[in-house]
Amino acid sequence: MKEKYLDFKTNDNYELINEPANVIKNGGLVLFPTETVYGIGANGLDENAIKKIFIAKGRPQDNPLILHISDMDMLDIIADEISELEYKLMDTFWPGPFTIILKKKVIVPSTVTAGLDTVAVRMPSNKIAHELINQAGVPIAAPSANISGKPSGTNVEDIFDELRDRVDYIIDGGDCEIGLESTVVRVVEGKPHILRPGKITKELIEQVAESVEVDSHVMNELKDGEVVMSPGMKHRHYAPNTKCVLVYSENNEKLIEKIKEMASRYSNPLILSTTENKNKYTVENIIDIGSKNNLEEISKNIFTDLRKVDSYNADIVIIEGVSTDGLGLAIMNRLIRACEYNFIKC
Ligand code: TXA
Ligand code: MG
Repeated sequence: MKEKYLDFKTNDNYELINEPANVIKNGGLVLFPTETVYGIGANGLDENAIKKIFIAKGRPQDNPLILHISDMDMLDIIADEISELEYKLMDTFWPGPFTIILKKKVIVPSTVTAGLDTVAVRMPSNKIAHELINQAGVPIAAPSANISGKPSGTNVEDIFDELRDRVDYIIDGGDCEIGLESTVVRVVEGKPHILRPGKITKELIEQVAESVEVDSHVMNELKDGEVVMSPGMKHRHYAPNTKCVLVYSENNEKLIEKIKEMASRYSNPLILSTTENKNKYTVENIIDIGSKNNLEEISKNIFTDLRKVDSYNADIVIIEGVSTDGLGLAIMNRLIRACEYNFIKC
């Protein structure tokens, strides 16, 4: 086994983080937990270390990384021309699942930002992540822990085989609390734009800024030649190999009828159903994604559920959608991409 493994599920001696922190300082890669998803971290100011992340994930060069910081002094090193509203947003949502796009300083390698003049910054609240950044003493560049295109890793078991030979060190902190990646926001002409929805919802941001815009690509497929505010929107993500379709209706009876009718057209359908509806379907293969009245539960498990899908050898995967209110928007954004925009609203 190439990598070293530190079990933080049964242990909370933060002094032990010194070892992976040294791996970061020496240009290596560390798989570590955050409150959102696991990350593959490297020294965010070390060009060569950053290149290793792109290789480990098979990540397209044009998709920039988030720099993770542990205090506001680190922000000063990497970002410039910060407005009052941007400070207010960071003040309100940090530490936590919130990423903000800011003007970058020269010190930030262009490999991190994929040549853009902006840098994505986040201060995680997870204690292990905080200690790792703090003890490394540098901003840590970290994309979600998954081979590019696959669902993000929210526990070590899901990604161990996929990534064990691609990183130098693994910190196992158990299940991630949230299970979906951070909300990504860019302030344009005084108005926050949500580029990727997450646990920090539009409704929460509206309590800080007068009006908030959700980028149209959060729920709509990119058209040929369209320019996007966030390169991540361009790339295929979360999709299993089996064909998936997302179905939603505000009317629950209609939703069930539609899914039943679709399932009847296939010989081996798999349904990803909310807990409330799962007994309504007569198909053999059902994955319970959690209660529609508990979106936290759905968000926490959805990537693990999506990773199971291909093992059913189904000829269709039908996924029940949820309302896009609150955290529902983040869930639906991941699901619509898992279904490659194959979405039926009825
Ligand atoms: O919760 C998270 O954000 C996790 C954990 C590990 O912190 N990280 C994560 O990183 O999801 P990643 O690389 O998988 O997603 C970063 C997203 C991508 O969609 C990328 O295109 C966007 O942020 N992004 C990064 N820098 C950007 C920039 N300068 N402008 C616009 N979008 C940017
Ligand atoms: Mg990712």
